[in-house]
Amino acid sequence: MPASLSTVTYVVAAMLFVASLRGLSNQESARRGNLLGTIGMLIAVVVTLALIAVPSAGVASVSMTKLGVLGGAIAVGGLIGSVLAARVAMTSMPELVAILHSFVGLAAVLVGIGTAMEGRAHDTAHAIETYLGVVVGAITFTGSIIAFLKLRATIGSRPLVIPGRHVINATMLIACIVLGVMAGGRKEAMPELLGLTVIAGVLGAHLVLAIGGGDMPVVVSLLNSYSGWAASAAGFMLGNDLLIITGALVGSSGAILSYFMCRAMNRSIWNVVFAGFGDVPKAAKGGKQEEQKPVIQTNVDETAELLLNAKSVIVVPGYGMAVAQAQHAVKQITTMLQDHGVQCRYAIHPVAGRLPGHMNVLLAEADVPYDIVQEMDEINADMDKTDVVIVIGANDIVNPSALEDESSPIWGMPVLEVWKAAKVVMLKRSMAAGYAGVENPLCFRENTLMLFGDAKQTVTKLLTSIAAKNAEAA
Ligand code: TAP
Repeated sequence: MPASLSTVTYVVAAMLFVASLRGLSNQESARRGNLLGTIGMLIAVVVTLALIAVPSAGVASVSMTKLGVLGGAIAVGGLIGSVLAARVAMTSMPELVAILHSFVGLAAVLVGIGTAMEGRAHDTAHAIETYLGVVVGAITFTGSIIAFLKLRATIGSRPLVIPGRHVINATMLIACIVLGVMAGGRKEAMPELLGLTVIAGVLGAHLVLAIGGGDMPVVVSLLNSYSGWAASAAGFMLGNDLLIITGALVGSSGAILSYFMCRAMNRSIWNVVFAGFGDVPKAAKGGKQEEQKPVIQTNVDETAELLLNAKSVIVVPGYGMAVAQAQHAVKQITTMLQDHGVQCRYAIHPVAGRLPGHMNVLLAEADVPYDIVQEMDEINADMDKTDVVIVIGANDIVNPSALEDESSPIWGMPVLEVWKAAKVVMLKRSMAAGYAGVENPLCFRENTLMLFGDAKQTVTKLLTSIAAKNAEAA
């Protein structure tokens, strides 16, 4: 295959990847973005196969063995990947993503070792890209496996905080650099390269073990970024421009996503990676202790009445709605209220739930129309004009301490200012804190009514009650 043709098709594939990322940035265009990315990847795979199969000048014959091995690997890998992706539950998506990143890391390690064994890391530049690819790949590989095991709860979610861990990490990093310098790109230097690989692997595992289970979504996004850089390094080793571009796209988009997640949680990436935070929610801690006023409780019938008499309602979904899988019943309620003439909208906080876009995906799954789903920045200004806000299994994202209490651990985090509405109904099972482990003064406000119970059960009862009241009125 002529090199110019492969270059042109690689540029087309790269452009499709960029268009895909752009499409994925918006809910309405996400499907199209996914399709463009798939077409780009198909082109990349076909062109790479063609480069091997169609001899260019100087290549004696088609290597059927190589082609067979590649074709077989793609068929088996594609089949396993499709079956797994089709069967995975939405809540297990971060696990799947984590284990897929580990494969990218492993691939980068193997490419690096192969490059060194063939003596292609002969000069300083090649040696640096090879060893860097191996180190980033090994960190991504083991780090992603630990993230996968934590997300599956196979290993505990508590952060492993051993004394002097930062010094240990720094020592491992220095050891990798020393071994890389000792190897010096020589193909005989396998013991040094393998030593470097093992140490980088231990470093990756240790880094992720030190992070609490709750912070795994940010870590997975960060590992996504690492896997991109590892792929990019593999692209340099293999002299494949498309792999370099694709890796850089994945690396930078993963880094940007991690940054946005941290910003929405008002935490620095250093705090997530090095602070040993993100443990399972503890009892309320930190912050000004709100005097323990009694909460005002309500019941299903009162809430149904309140909703039917409202002109405007905003639904705030959170982690509890995801756990209870209440989204379908919630959608039925808003449809029923809309039929009754009530204006209904959904307010989405950027870090509601436990993974980026968690609520958007759940609402899309329940067929909630996109035009009534609004982001925090758009909807906050309308809170004071709203009759009822119904908070379903959300806590931290509606906590007023973030704006009112400088001593609160979540001080500075942008939140949905639901307390500005005439009435707030909070659906949760108990007075337990949310992910950040911080007490929520919203529960004690005069305009807040607490509706205790599992979100799915409560919402289903609410649906029945609204339907009954509607039928009575008809
Ligand atoms: P949370 O603050 O974690 O609050 C969820 C609430 O749901 C809890 O207070 C819990 O109270 C309630 N709940 C749990 N199961 C329930 C059920 N079956 N029925 C009814 N209620 C239930 O959630 P949020 O408001 O969505 O905030 C997300 C938090 O996660 C933020 O602190 C964010 O920084 C963090 N985080 C988010 C991400 C991403 S990317 N989204 C990543 C990492 C961390 P009860 O136990 O009393 O029911």
